[in-house]
Amino acid sequence: MEKLIVYGGNKLSGTVSVQGSKNSTLPIVAGAILCKGEVVLHNCPRLTDVDAAVNILKSLGCKIKRENNTLIIDSTDITTSVIDENLMREMRSSIVFLGALLARTGKAHLSTPGGCEIGLRPIDLHLKAMRELGVEINEENGNLHCVAKNGIKGAEITLAFPSVGATENVILAATAARGRTTLINAAREPEIKNLADFLNLCGAKIYFAGESTIIIDGVNNLHGCEFNIISDRIVASTYMAAAAITGGEVEITDFPVRDILPVCNFFNSGGCRINSDETSLRIKAPERLRLSGTVRTMPFPGFPTDFQAPAMAMATVSDLTTIFIETIFESRYKHVPQLKRMGADIRVEGTVAVVQGVKKLSGTTVYAEDLRGGIALVIAALAAEGKTEIINLKHIDRGYENIEDNLRRLGAEIKREDN
Ligand code: UD1
Repeated sequence: MEKLIVYGGNKLSGTVSVQGSKNSTLPIVAGAILCKGEVVLHNCPRLTDVDAAVNILKSLGCKIKRENNTLIIDSTDITTSVIDENLMREMRSSIVFLGALLARTGKAHLSTPGGCEIGLRPIDLHLKAMRELGVEINEENGNLHCVAKNGIKGAEITLAFPSVGATENVILAATAARGRTTLINAAREPEIKNLADFLNLCGAKIYFAGESTIIIDGVNNLHGCEFNIISDRIVASTYMAAAAITGGEVEITDFPVRDILPVCNFFNSGGCRINSDETSLRIKAPERLRLSGTVRTMPFPGFPTDFQAPAMAMATVSDLTTIFIETIFESRYKHVPQLKRMGADIRVEGTVAVVQGVKKLSGTTVYAEDLRGGIALVIAALAAEGKTEIINLKHIDRGYENIEDNLRRLGAEIKREDN
């Protein structure tokens, strides 16, 4: 099993460029099946989750080439509306293929994604919205059989919660609908805008009306295009955390800085200084962080749940006490026992975690239970005394490209070993 070995204590310095966004790439790759013609996607990160999406496309009959970080997708000859259960299981967000397949073929046969490391992941909002678009859905033994017998028809849909995945599924399905769809209480994450920009470039008619209403006028056909995936705001924030926890000074480049504004206050409150322009920033951290107050995860533009774990790693070595309230996912504190093994002082009650900063963490062997929880252990290890071994890297590899190379270039002592 592969592991990361980190010797903590080095202050990070230098420059790191941010990879393409995983959470943008996945729905856009799914969206490529709506297009009759070649889709060229630049800035696609090399991640196992992206490989899983590519495998689904191949199984549907798409032709795919990868040239470094560019994916070239030709979906002219889609041969099936069925996605094999094993392919679905590889990645929870494969549910976004539901809207895409319905838009392209009027049918989708796939399995439900089930639970995952961060808790139950229901899809009731996705299914309700698809039904409102005229899709008949039969669920049996964890399988979904979805058919739009009379085609997808535009509708007014209100999401009970601004789910990112449900918003993406509605956008994808409604792009091929008859008439207009108005989606109210849509998610506002930057990845939603990126998906809409991509589809519009292919000929879709998607408009943002106010903060959380999206209007989609259905069109008959989409064509190919060449498109740049946005860079990953959570990865950018993670490099900021790496700089901050080591008392370092790092420049982070090639990403839309406005997307990380929801986490800037957190860094500022810890004593970090941030200078930025539109696409890069420099963060300078104090010798010791002084984080305090309450961090409540919320849909965008609130504090991202995907950054809760790395932020908590920072709080473990702050001078003061930080309280975390996780409002998005039910089981997103699996990193806590691992951080405690390193000497962190954290108490969890339900969705609340109280983190009392300690002077030092100490290196030990820890287990990555999920993607963001896993990277939080790497962040903690950068500041810990001695050697930390992080095992079960499959989760980290779902979301971080060249993580050890990038951190090593910034001065961290980190290597990957296989044993
Ligand atoms: C996406 C992101 C993930 C991020 C999350 C929240 C991708 C590939 N993943 O996940 O990294 O953590 O947004 O920002 O983009 N819910 C329901 N019923 C539904 C759908 C969702 O109850 O039908 C609940 C979920 O259980 C969860 C909450 O809504 O508690 C948020 O989920 P959602 O916004 O849908 O997240 P994902 O799209 O799965």
